[in-house]
Amino acid sequence: MSDDLFDIKIGNFYFKNPIALAPMGGITDSHFANEFAKNAGLVILGGYNLDAATQQAASEMVKRGRKEFISDEPLKLIENALKSTKTNSVVAINVRSSTLEPLIEAAKIAKDANTIIEIDAHCRQPEMTKLGVGEALLHDLTKLQSMIREVKTTGAIVSVKVRANVIDNVKMAKAIEDAGSDILHVDAMKEGSGADMEAIKNIRDATRLLLIGNNSITDFEAAKEMFTRGADIVSIGRGLIEDPSLITTLVKEVTLLQNEIGWYNSPKHVCRGEGDLRGLAFCCLPVKPCPVHSNIKKIGLSAKEFADIKMEFAKGTPLEYGDSTCFGSLVWCCKITKMCPLRDGVLETIGLPDAEYMKLKKQLADYILDHPKVTGK
Ligand SMILES: Cc1cc2nc3c(=O)[nH]c(=O)nc-3n(C[C@H](O)[C@H](O)[C@H](O)COP(=O)(O)O)c2cc1C
Ligand code: SF4
Ligand code: SF4
Repeated sequence: MSDDLFDIKIGNFYFKNPIALAPMGGITDSHFANEFAKNAGLVILGGYNLDAATQQAASEMVKRGRKEFISDEPLKLIENALKSTKTNSVVAINVRSSTLEPLIEAAKIAKDANTIIEIDAHCRQPEMTKLGVGEALLHDLTKLQSMIREVKTTGAIVSVKVRANVIDNVKMAKAIEDAGSDILHVDAMKEGSGADMEAIKNIRDATRLLLIGNNSITDFEAAKEMFTRGADIVSIGRGLIEDPSLITTLVKEVTLLQNEIGWYNSPKHVCRGEGDLRGLAFCCLPVKPCPVHSNIKKIGLSAKEFADIKMEFAKGTPLEYGDSTCFGSLVWCCKITKMCPLRDGVLETIGLPDAEYMKLKKQLADYILDHPKVTGK
């Protein structure tokens, strides 16, 4: 399988597919990854407790029945885990520390081993949060931001793992992006059960960071729901314990989808409020009252500016064609999964396969959201 089939990259890392193993303390070591996640595009080992205080907290957690990775030499443990992971995927290490120095050391190890470091701002076990570790960092964004900045000075690629709905999701995402993180890994846990898809969508609209969505992915339907809300990658924890072949199944399904439609995480249309802002790539010419207007307002564009940007992109591409479509050009046309004989007739006439049409729509979404008129840069 080509490593760029999915076009997911960060720094020098190319992900062979958008399925990840989520970290589970005391469980996701190299043996677990080699056995159950060898097909994953990303394997996140850990979480590792890096300093004496987090080791002590982990020991207390073990006493009440949780599993944890405990070692007098956590950095050695990490180095050995990295050496023994043979999954042929991008690898990351999820870490916690109450002090900065071990985080910096771990980040250097991650960088030297050509892996990613993930800061755990997610753990809500009281033994950790009372140290100011894990989820406690979300209540002290200044500290989290300073931690991210310091870790970034090592040159490592940095991910931050968070839980949604702990603080304001948009504020959290923007703070993590502003501090220089490369990846945002969101456990979209919601009260009750299942994942909060609205939270993923709102976070997608707040940041252009590589976004890993997580929680309750137990089949491809659940993965697809998260992809359509803007997750670039989805990560799997408990689902893999229930079904050891889950990652293999998801990789197979998402590969079929990507080959078929060319944009595995294409958004829903924005009409019914489910699609994130990337869905503007499927919007009509903004000539009638409909949700396109409130969505372009969010990115600071007038109807004319939006129309001009779309036409600017279409120029010289196959999206320029389509006299017989609703608005005279494929640039205004719907997602390929929405049946339309008019659009499909044009695609057939110009010989543009469905997957290529959708790849152009993905480029169009990026073009709109990265446009200087939108970013102000
Ligand atoms: C036993 C267990 C241990 C976990 N340990 C960690 C951890 O060390 N670091 C972390 O960021 N998340 C940890 N998590 C959270 C998972 O990575 C994931 O966010 C959560 O389980 C929801 O995803 P899932 O529904 O796919 O399991 C742990 C989860 C479980 C069940
Ligand atoms: S422009 Fe078209 S696709 Fe977009 S919100 Fe309006 S009706 Fe829906
Ligand atoms: S021609 Fe079809 S695909 Fe294009 S905008 Fe009209 S309904 Fe949508």
